[in-house]
Amino acid sequence: LNLYGTLRKNSMGTNFANDLELKALADAVAAHSGPWQAAPLVPNAPVSQGPQVTVDNPARHGQTVGSYQAADAATVEQALSNAVAAQPAWDRLPVASRAAILEYAADQLEARHGEFIALCVREAGKTVPDAIAEIREAVDFLRYYATMARRLYAQPETLPGPTGETNQLYLHGRGVFVCISPWNFPLAIFVGQIAAALAAGNAVIAKPAEQTSLIGHVAVKLLLAAGIPAEILQYLPGDGATVGAALTRDPRVAGVAFTGSTDTAWAINRSLAARTSSIAALVAETGGQNAMIADSSALPEQIVKDVVASAFQSAGQRCSAARILLVQEDIADKVMDMLAGAMAELKLGDPGLLSTDVGPVIDASALALLEAHAARMDREARLIAITPMDPSLAGQGSFFAPRAYEIRSLAQLEREVFGPVLHVLRWKGEDLAGVVEQINATGYGLTLGVHSRINDTIDYIQAHARVGNLYVNRNQIGAVVGVQPFGGEGLSGTGPKAGGPHYLLRFSGERTVTVNT
Ligand code: NAD
Ligand code: ALA
Repeated sequence: LNLYGTLRKNSMGTNFANDLELKALADAVAAHSGPWQAAPLVPNAPVSQGPQVTVDNPARHGQTVGSYQAADAATVEQALSNAVAAQPAWDRLPVASRAAILEYAADQLEARHGEFIALCVREAGKTVPDAIAEIREAVDFLRYYATMARRLYAQPETLPGPTGETNQLYLHGRGVFVCISPWNFPLAIFVGQIAAALAAGNAVIAKPAEQTSLIGHVAVKLLLAAGIPAEILQYLPGDGATVGAALTRDPRVAGVAFTGSTDTAWAINRSLAARTSSIAALVAETGGQNAMIADSSALPEQIVKDVVASAFQSAGQRCSAARILLVQEDIADKVMDMLAGAMAELKLGDPGLLSTDVGPVIDASALALLEAHAARMDREARLIAITPMDPSLAGQGSFFAPRAYEIRSLAQLEREVFGPVLHVLRWKGEDLAGVVEQINATGYGLTLGVHSRINDTIDYIQAHARVGNLYVNRNQIGAVVGVQPFGGEGLSGTGPKAGGPHYLLRFSGERTVTVNT
C-alpha cells in the first residue's frame, strides 16, 4: 500500500537463475539488431529538417547503431505552435483517461522489453542488468504518476470558508512543458519526465540527449501508439545548445523539466531568466559529488561491497554514484586492501555479455575527460587499485578501467567526475562534524551513504547533511520509484523528488475558486 492507500506494485525483474526466462530474454533481445532510424515526431513539420546524425555503439568503434535527423528551427516552431493549440483539450480530459493511457503504455513497454534492452546495450553501452533496471524504472514511473494523478486531479480540494462561501482548490496543467533528458538514463528519466508532465495535463516537447536519441524515438512512438495525441507529445532530437536552447528561451514554454549536468542547468536558468514576457517553472535534477562515510564500527566487507556497487556499477555513470569514500583512520588500510581485492575481480568488457560487470563509458569525449582526470590523480594522489583491462578493449570502444585513489583533501576534487573513479579520504577519530561539514561545503547535495553501527552517528549525519537521499548501511544507487523518491538540493537540483508523492505538483498550476452563494 502506498501513501494514499492504493495498491501499487513495482515492475518485476528477470530471474537470471531460470534458464527458460533467460532464453526468452535472449531471444527477445536478439530479434532487434537495428539499424534504427529516427526523425522529429512533429505533425505538419516542414519537409526540410536539420542534419542527419549517426549514432555509434560505445562498445564497438565504427559499429553504427542507427541515425537520426535533428530538428531545425522551423520544426521547433511547428512543435511549439502544435503544443500550444492542443494542450487545453488534453488538460480538460478526465484525469482517468490520461492515467489509463499511461498505464497501457507501461504494459506495452514491459511487453516490448527485448527491443529496449537491445537499444540500451547498443546505443547507451548499458549492461543487460542495467538495461533491465532501466525498463523497470520507466514502467514504474508511468504507473506511479498515473496513480498519483488519479489521486491529485480527480476532485478539487474543498477548503474552509465563512458561511455562504465555498472555496475550492483546483490543479491543472501549466501549458507546454519541455522535457530535456540526459544519456545516462535514456529511457527511465526520459519517460519519467514525460509521464509526469502528461499526467498533470501538460503538452510535452521531449528533447532526448544527443547520444541516445534512438531510444527516445522508440519510446515516444510507443507512447503515441498507446493513445497520447501526436500534438501533445512531440519528439524533437537535436543539439542541446541549438534545439534545447531554442525551446527554453521561447515564451510559450510554461515549464522545463531538465535532468543533466549542473552547468547546463545554469545555462537553462539564465535563458529562462532572460525572458521578459512570461515566467516559467524549472524542475532541474543535476549532478552530485556524492560521498560515503564509514566509521570503525562498520563491517569492512559490507563497506567494500556497497562502495564497489555505488562507485562502479553502470561504469560510475550515475548521478547518484559514490565518488568519495570517507573512511575512519582505524579501518582505512584494511578497507583499502579489501577494495583493491574486490576491484581486481570486476569484469570490464562487452555490455551484452551477462558476465560483464562494467561496460564502456558513453563516448570518446567522456573517455578523454576521465583519462585527463586519471592523469592528474596519478600525479597528485596515490593509486589504490585499477581493475584489469584486456588491452584489446582500448581499440574496441570507449572503455575506462575503474580506479580508486587515496586523496589528501576534498579540495583536490573540483567538480563531478562522471565515471568509475573512486576517491578515498581518511578521517580521524572524533571529527565526524568536520567530515559532514566538508561534504556540505562541496555545495552538491544528492546522495550520501553511511556505514556505521552507532545510532548517534547516524542521527548526527541525518540531522546535518544537506542531501536529498541518505542511505544507511547499504549502497547508495538505484532508487526505486515510490520507495526512495529521488532528487537533490544545492548544486544537485531544485529539489523535486522523482518517483515521490509530491513530484506531480511541480508540473501543475493551482487555481482557487471562491463562490459567494
Ligand atoms: P548534459 O547537461 O550535457 O545534457 C543533458 C541534456 O541537456 C541533453 O539533452 C543536452 O542536449 C541538453 N542541453 C545541453 N545544453 C543545453 C542548453 N544550453 N539548453 C538546453 N538543453 C541543453 O548532461 P549529460 O552529460 O547528458 O548527463 C550527465 C549529467 O546528468 C551528470 O552531471 C549527471 O550527474 C546528471 N544526472 C542527474 C540526475 C539526477 O536525477 N539528479 C540523473 C541523471 C543524470
Ligand atoms: N535514480 C538513479 C539512482 O538512484 C539515478 O541511481
